[in-house]
Amino acid sequence: MKARKIKDNIYWMGSVDWDRRLFDTLVPLPDGTSYNAYLIKGSEKTALLDSVDPPMAHELLSQLEGIPKLDYVISQHAEQDHSGTIPRVLEKFPDAKLITSPKAKGMLMDLLGIPENFFMTVEDGDTLSLGNRTLKFIHTPWVHWPETMVTYLEEDKILFSCDFFGSHIATTDLFVTDEGRVLEAAKRYFAEIMMPFRGVIQKDLDKLASYNIEMIAPSHGQIYPRASLIIDAYKEWVLGALRNKVVLPYVTMHESTKQMVDHLVSALEEKGVGVEQFNLVVTDIGKLAMALIDAATIVVGTPTILAGPHPYAAYAAFLANALRPKTKFLSIIGSYGWGGKTVEVLAGMIPNLKVEVIEPVLCKGVPLEDDFRALDTLAAAIAEKHKEHNII
Ligand code: FEO
Repeated sequence: MKARKIKDNIYWMGSVDWDRRLFDTLVPLPDGTSYNAYLIKGSEKTALLDSVDPPMAHELLSQLEGIPKLDYVISQHAEQDHSGTIPRVLEKFPDAKLITSPKAKGMLMDLLGIPENFFMTVEDGDTLSLGNRTLKFIHTPWVHWPETMVTYLEEDKILFSCDFFGSHIATTDLFVTDEGRVLEAAKRYFAEIMMPFRGVIQKDLDKLASYNIEMIAPSHGQIYPRASLIIDAYKEWVLGALRNKVVLPYVTMHESTKQMVDHLVSALEEKGVGVEQFNLVVTDIGKLAMALIDAATIVVGTPTILAGPHPYAAYAAFLANALRPKTKFLSIIGSYGWGGKTVEVLAGMIPNLKVEVIEPVLCKGVPLEDDFRALDTLAAAIAEKHKEHNII
């Protein structure tokens, strides 16, 4: 794709990656993604913000063909999907200065072998004049690595946010047109990438509150012409209340655990508690991550295999532990053949979750009447805990 004008002398550059289906060999991308770079021309200087994933380098380099001079290349985030083509840009423009946070400098030298003489580091709040345009650098750690910063173009009131506020969507629409679609994609992206750093992101949002931001241009997905759309959504995801909801990832081998899951879901529904159920064999992990954003309770359903939880259930527990949702309660249900340490193993896998464990229900073989009664008791206990904590 060619460079696209956002407004006078400000251009989108980069690449739309329609075919990518996995990020970091972990995160599903059902709608592809984009790597957005931005060219900003001032009356005296020209800057390029970020670059593209190395396999897409040819697109950015072709877009830069007609640009006679780059004074600055700004790297807001050292991860290679944004920084990976910077060495080739610097080859083309060897007089350009590479602007980064001090932390990013070391990371870019480590990851990409960029020589030290290219760098000019900026502190939080530093500005850079392009003549009639001014860039202000705001350090916003942990969106998504510790070195990340965003850039505010003062005269145009545009925030260039890199991963922050991004979404994985491949589209020819430069600006958000379908707000529902982009919020769904941005929520998935928040759950998978940002949620573990909720506490710091809250501080980053507070920091941005004093800026008059009209437009947000992230480095993945579409540009937000109405910045409040995504800022308000982030406030809700970071600070919003828990919902009266159980997230229930499960795996079953001979249907006993599945019978328990079905019974518990029905019992919870009768108690007025919502459930999002995920069969881990077929589920989209991104959807599970999204469901965790505001779930009051997690119940893991697993058979006992080789004396512990099924590896799929262990994966779900490990993922939940890594994503650190706000969840307050957790329980485990499942069937076993002759024994094992399923509860102990799973409970030991979630040290990051500040949860109260509600009495698990494990049954021997196929669930019988007593087991179903125990599941009814578990449903009642969950409903009661939610009520006690005003989770409605
Ligand atoms: Fe889009 Fe953290 O890279």
